[in-house]
Amino acid sequence: GVCFTSSDSRFELPERISSILITRECLLKRIQAIARDISRHSRNINALVVLEGAKYFFKDLKEELIKLNAGINEDSIQLSSYSKLATTGKVKVKKDISTDITGKDIIIFEDIIDTGLTLKFLTEYLITEKRARSVRICALLDKPERREVKIKVDYVGFIVPNEFIVGYGLDYEGKYRELPYIGIYSP
Ligand code: PRP
Repeated sequence: GVCFTSSDSRFELPERISSILITRECLLKRIQAIARDISRHSRNINALVVLEGAKYFFKDLKEELIKLNAGINEDSIQLSSYSKLATTGKVKVKKDISTDITGKDIIIFEDIIDTGLTLKFLTEYLITEKRARSVRICALLDKPERREVKIKVDYVGFIVPNEFIVGYGLDYEGKYRELPYIGIYSP
């Protein structure tokens, strides 16, 4: 389904947020559906959360997975972040995973796929350096217009237009991450 801005929240929008693209209600509904999908395929989930952004999304998704009685092993990784406005295309590990994932089937949880460079790097890293058996990708948001490398996404929440979006984990210069919805930033 399509999500629309609820007109009565307009007045509460922070400065520079011109509208809401995806309401919290829409996010949660979709996350419930993703959780059902994932738990149908795997009952024991080795989750790798990409910091910082995906923490927010994964917190809600995890609650849904727990309701569905799925087992969850959780680890996280932090990669070099870069400004959405000037990407260098180079990805580095800032904080590595802390568990041994040799031979394991991993699901990566990301907030957004943009150029695809982060996930291309991370998938190869987990397979070649960390010896994971398989890697699947779950991304809340997908912005295909920006794609530079081909990525197979196994679970996706919403396809989003090529707009400057913030909230629910997505920041602009450290701000707006805590917003409970995905909003459009207008500089
Ligand atoms: C964002 C996002 C993804 C990546 C996607 O992270 O969370 O990890 O960029 O972009 P790509 O597909 O072009 O590689 P960011 O670098 O902003 O770090 P953050 O999550 O810590 O804010």
